[in-house]
Amino acid sequence: MQEAEIKIGGISVRDLAEQYGTPLYVYDAERIRDNFRRLSSALRGHYPEVSVYYAIKACNNLEIAKLLVEQGAGIDAASPNEIRLAQALGLSGERILYTGNSLSDDDLAAGLRAGVIFNVDDHGVLKRLFALGRPRCMSFRINPSSEDIATPDLTPFAGPSAKFGIHPRFVEEAYRTALENGVERLGVHMMPHSQASKPESFAHVTGKLLDLIGPVARKLGFQLEFLDIGGGLGIPYRRELPPLDVDAVAREVAAVVRRKCAEHGLKTPRLVMEPGRYFVGDAGYVLGRVISIKQGYRTILGTDISMNTMARPVMYGAYHEVRINGRGGQTAPMAMTGQVCENTDMWISEREFPAEVAEGDVVVLMDAGAYGHVMSYDYNGRLRPAEVLVDGGQSRLIRRRDTFEDLVSRMCLSEDIQKRLREAAGEASGQAAGG
Ligand code: LLP
Repeated sequence: MQEAEIKIGGISVRDLAEQYGTPLYVYDAERIRDNFRRLSSALRGHYPEVSVYYAIKACNNLEIAKLLVEQGAGIDAASPNEIRLAQALGLSGERILYTGNSLSDDDLAAGLRAGVIFNVDDHGVLKRLFALGRPRCMSFRINPSSEDIATPDLTPFAGPSAKFGIHPRFVEEAYRTALENGVERLGVHMMPHSQASKPESFAHVTGKLLDLIGPVARKLGFQLEFLDIGGGLGIPYRRELPPLDVDAVAREVAAVVRRKCAEHGLKTPRLVMEPGRYFVGDAGYVLGRVISIKQGYRTILGTDISMNTMARPVMYGAYHEVRINGRGGQTAPMAMTGQVCENTDMWISEREFPAEVAEGDVVVLMDAGAYGHVMSYDYNGRLRPAEVLVDGGQSRLIRRRDTFEDLVSRMCLSEDIQKRLREAAGEASGQAAGG
């Protein structure tokens, strides 16, 4: 049975695969803008003062981040290089939030130079930070315990099993040290979960955070300038699940912030969120091709989407919907693999696929926009894919495919190898010129 062509922003995946080759990341610009507007208007609808940052780690192509910055997003950076990405987008100072882990002196100095909002995840780092300088505005990433916010794919980012955030026991010490060092503008932060699917998780853990910070702020006599509840908004990787109700998230969070701030005698702070996945996750796709259909102990669809093209399934056992373009009807159980010499590269061990699937068919891995290309790597000499943006019915390349030259370009090579590489490149270009 012939199914309709899959389209991204109005362009068929077959045309995209033909024009740009596979494997290929494709993003739908309008979907990214919609995702931002939906969240931003939900938050603003329920709370007076809101800032939204984009966690650029989710997808760091500047053309993608630019779409969000144009909508009003700041950038949440995890490293000095991500600060530089944000600066390349025209952002500076407090439009950049800096949430790093195990920051070295160089990392700290880079943040101080850029004048970003420091979000410190370890009170132990403060001595080194204040020896180097003083941020004008900072927050602490607190680790509130989190019994009920685990998600199916990922372990929670808070609670005893997490490496992140400041233990409740050290919260007072952290803020006292900041105040003693003359920091005047303070906020509080948490990032307790990613891919959270229940709206109530957000209000629940926000309440816990305010119960922790409220008494500390009162005792030390400071007001919170902002409350950053992190990212973590989940998307329905499984089509049968409903999308997260972000209006409910905003409504419930706003209510708990008002209630808890009143209880603890705090002024209501500015509300900050810094999602990554929610903005770009469902706007991205990986296009590949069925290269082989191998019969044996099971039927294995060999594709050019490998564990290093999209790491999430193998890394987290994460589920992604996979569609075979133009195929429907009867299905049969099959495995799906990439081209890498690892058995884990069988990233789907069994799933129903259309029985009529054929070599050359275009495979579409859905919801690949977040933690997709950024987590790809070039194992087995299978190089990182190109990225294409579809906007207003047009497609354009926003990152070229890596080449063999890229693979060797960062190796520091002895003269004999360099000579051979030059010769091989000369032969290859000669062959190309000769047709
Ligand atoms: N803020 C901070 C401080 C973070 O560490 C993260 C993500 C975010 C915001 C954005 O979280 P999101 O809204 O995207 O959930 N590689 C994993 C996800 C790791 C998330 C790391 N931190 C995955 O593929 O599911």
